[in-house]
Amino acid sequence: MNKRITVLSGDYIGPEIVEQGILALEAAARRFGHRFEFCRVDFGGAAIDSAGVPFPEETRKACEEADAVLLGSVGGPKWDSVPKEIRPEKGLLQMRSALGLFGNLRPAKLHPQLAFACPLRPEIVEKGIDIMTVRELTGGIYFGSHETSVQNGERVAADLMAYSEHEIDRILRVGFEAARKRRKRLTSVEKSNVLDCSRLWKERAHALSAEYPDVELIDMLVDNAAMQLVRDPSQFDVLVTENMFGDILSDESSMIVGSIGMMPSASLRDDSFGVYEPIHGSAPDIAGRDLANPIGTILSAAMMLRYSFGMAREADAVEAAVDAVLDSGLRTADIMSAGMKRAGCREMGAAIAAAIG
Ligand code: NAD
Ligand code: IPM
Ligand code: MN
Repeated sequence: MNKRITVLSGDYIGPEIVEQGILALEAAARRFGHRFEFCRVDFGGAAIDSAGVPFPEETRKACEEADAVLLGSVGGPKWDSVPKEIRPEKGLLQMRSALGLFGNLRPAKLHPQLAFACPLRPEIVEKGIDIMTVRELTGGIYFGSHETSVQNGERVAADLMAYSEHEIDRILRVGFEAARKRRKRLTSVEKSNVLDCSRLWKERAHALSAEYPDVELIDMLVDNAAMQLVRDPSQFDVLVTENMFGDILSDESSMIVGSIGMMPSASLRDDSFGVYEPIHGSAPDIAGRDLANPIGTILSAAMMLRYSFGMAREADAVEAAVDAVLDSGLRTADIMSAGMKRAGCREMGAAIAAAIG
């Protein structure tokens, strides 16, 4: 098959990790006889520098014309003082919204080789960790009005969280469908003891549940969910939640599978198009030193093969290559332990590409 992939490397470690994702995709294309064409365009801080805005029209077009998008990470201290309307992170939100990417899948699966890197006690880790967080990505407080006004002589900041029924229903359906293909337990995470958005969310979850009699629906308040994730993560199969709760809980889940550098994501809409990126940020503290773990990006590339291209064998091959390289003892700094062999970002990426074949 021929596929066009738009590449948004982004900022700081973005280009370092994305190059390893491309190597994995090229290796899969070679092994399975496909042709992938890569088109690199500026995004985030890099686009502010070259075009004055983080998500230029040309970048939007390049995304829309592609079969899928591979993204690194955006933002960092260089652009921390630019006006909020053109921050790199604003470009990321504009991109998600413009492309209609409402469904964000963030799988957290503990590779047994990394059990030592999980900060939880061994008897908790032994029960296994395999959680799919389904995060709503184009609504909620990220996309409500944000303003700071002066009232009674002091500044007052306000950020609005709003959700419509159709936005809630479509993401809940992604959650139910994901649970149906997995262990059939869906935990709906909200704050219905306080928020109207969450009360509507919980009501819709129970209404839709009638259409998914094979899926067990569990309601959980978000503060409890944050605690349960470290008390006993094996209780979770699929978590479905709104935008900001999903952002926070997915970073929490990344650490219990060893490192944020391990976690991939897919941002999807109703058709096969998607944007694929690790869940971490641009890691300015380690950028330019060949220290970043590229596995989150490489596993994101595997999700691209699976979800956008329908290439299950190819995706399996990339995931198996990651496993094989972890088995071989190669480790980036974030997942290093005694007796293992330390690798940089490039060496790790090259080893995984070689293992793909
Ligand atoms: P971060 O995820 O960039 O870094 C948090 C910590 O995790 C750092 O110590 C970093 O070194 C480490 N880390 C992250 N990725 C790693 C990897 N692949 N390998 C090894 N270690 C890794 O979060 P932050 O420091 O809060 O944010 C930095 C910038 O990134 C901010 O501007 C933020 O807005 C942006 N950000 C962007 C995205 C995105 O592009 N999707 C996501 C999150 C944060
Ligand atoms: C993520 C990031 C973004 C988010 C930021 C950079 C806007 O943290 O992709 O998880 O909060 O969605
Ligand atoms: Mn985040």
